Amino acid sequence: MTAKLLINNMRMNFGDRLLFAAPQLEFAQGDVIYLQGENGAGKTTLMKLLAGLVAPSSGSITATGFPARPWWRNQRSVLGRAIYLHQYPYLFDGNVKRNLTHGLKFIDDDKKTIDLRVEQALEMAHLQHLINRTASHLSGGERQRLAIARAWVLQPKLLMLDEPTSNMDKYSQSLIMQMIHQLRELGTGLLISSHQTCELTDLCHNQWIIQQQLIQASAIVATSVTTEDTQYELAN
Ligand SMILES: Nc1ncnc2c1ncn2[C@@H]1O[C@H](COP(=O)(O)OP(=O)(O)O)[C@@H](O)[C@H]1O
Ligand SMILES: [Mg+2]
Repeated sequence: MTAKLLINNMRMNFGDRLLFAAPQLEFAQGDVIYLQGENGAGKTTLMKLLAGLVAPSSGSITATGFPARPWWRNQRSVLGRAIYLHQYPYLFDGNVKRNLTHGLKFIDDDKKTIDLRVEQALEMAHLQHLINRTASHLSGGERQRLAIARAWVLQPKLLMLDEPTSNMDKYSQSLIMQMIHQLRELGTGLLISSHQTCELTDLCHNQWIIQQQLIQASAIVATSVTTEDTQYELAN
């Protein structure tokens, strides 16, 4: 069963002010969605809603198709279903390795598989030489790479990237593109916010536009032929 989050008749207010309404939206595994909107339109707030970090003012967001949780946790709760990657990623105290492996204690896979995945992530993010470096000493691009590598290691069903490549050097951007590409191949649903188009948003086949306090979904009609697929095959 496909894992998805469903938004139904949702409205989000701050005080008296309506930020946006969304009658019906679906974010599912395999989706690659470009979330568009001017600065202040509510992209970050929408991602926080989908991550279960804040609650909508009215309406609902529910999760279906995810593996069962322990009986004491609400099966339909969205909290923790989709991983949310903040624009300025939060890193833990300690070194790169600790940051990369932190979430893995909640994963059931055997140790060998996990070790291999960590090694692959370090390689993809070009962070091997920094494995023992204190995370707070990393450059901006390295921090972003570590944050995406940490998500990649968990191989989530749904991942939300908030303005992922803004303020990032070209080198880090290309590494992140490769990791995102890989996640897409694995079927991870991606919601990517940006106030302008970029290489990452070119990957998207659907769009959600926040305009005049309404979020509307539509398909993106391709306007040009890209050579991305061949490029990434070569890069791998
Ligand atoms: N906790 C909050 N309380 C009040 N207003 C908020 C809060 N969080 C965000 N906002 C406001 O909601 C609007 C949308 O913010 P945000 O979701 O960050 O937009 P975007 O990511 O599209 O730039 C902004 O005007 C912001 O000031
Ligand atoms: Mg934002």
